[in-house]
Amino acid sequence: MTIPDRPRRSALFLPASNAKAMAKARTLPCDVVILDLEDAVAPDAKVEAREAAVAAVAEGFGDREVVIRANGLDSPWGEADLLAIASSKADAVLVPKVNGPDDIAAYEKILCAAPAELQLWTMIETCASVARLPEIAACAEGGRLSLWVMGTNDLAKEMRAQLTPCRTPFLPFLSMAVAAARAAGIAILDGVCNEFRELDVFRAEAEQGLMFGFDGKSLIHPAQIDPCNAVFSPSEADLAWANAVIEAFALPENQGKGAIRVEGKMAELLHLEQAKRLVAVAERISTKA
Ligand code: COA
Ligand code: MG
Repeated sequence: MTIPDRPRRSALFLPASNAKAMAKARTLPCDVVILDLEDAVAPDAKVEAREAAVAAVAEGFGDREVVIRANGLDSPWGEADLLAIASSKADAVLVPKVNGPDDIAAYEKILCAAPAELQLWTMIETCASVARLPEIAACAEGGRLSLWVMGTNDLAKEMRAQLTPCRTPFLPFLSMAVAAARAAGIAILDGVCNEFRELDVFRAEAEQGLMFGFDGKSLIHPAQIDPCNAVFSPSEADLAWANAVIEAFALPENQGKGAIRVEGKMAELLHLEQAKRLVAVAERISTKA
């Protein structure tokens, strides 16, 4: 049973070129802060944003996990970004537009001198990557790769698909990515929802992500944090069910049984495991709060 070290319900992106947003992030209840050097930063601001990100990480973001998203190694800024992040205090570097295992190897190589604790997170956002998910996931073995973030905006662009609230064109990839990630013990976050004023639309998308099994969701705006944390925290009803399953399996008459009846439904030992995991996740969240 793998329990995440820290909750990763909400991962807020912000442009590292935006000093005001970085200061504000220190006051927000997101689990993860992702300082972006890539899509959200204009070419002329790249170098300054890199320095600002490293300085902001040194100042700290409280108990939030702190990640810097680098530019790709195929860009003029990628290598310098990676080296700067490798000697920063960031928990992870997030790299964009990975297409296959060769890209992971190139990132691992450039990070070879970084502290062992520095994690490698990757975006899953190219058409090539969705065809090679198990191969990319296999790179986690013995390496830094520990988490994927779905990049649905870039996928929509490459596919020429429409990113509508139901996300129909992306559903096969979302479930394949979650399965490939789980098979390799990689954590996985859902893509961003560009809608930050219509919170009902956001909430429905977050609930869809929960249904698919994501650990949490990447976000673009502070208004999305509270609904996201609520969706990705175990609900009272789920916890009540989990506790009922745990208590039922502990009864003397249920010792040695593999399947029992709990509140009119079947519960097997696999449900007991799920129940214990849910309770442990809820405890992690409550100790954080
Ligand atoms: N992180 C931290 N603070 C943020 C923020 C973010 N992602 N987005 C907005 N804010 C802050 C603003 O600075 C503003 O602060 P203030 O009240 O102290 O002035 C407040 O939240 C309200 O912002 P608002 O006016 O509603 O949004 P905006 O029009 O200024 O910005 C975006 C809209 C989309 C440009 C902005 O939210 C953003 O840059 N998001 C992240 C983009 C990104 O990183 N993309 C890459 C990954 S997809
Ligand atoms: Mg992108």
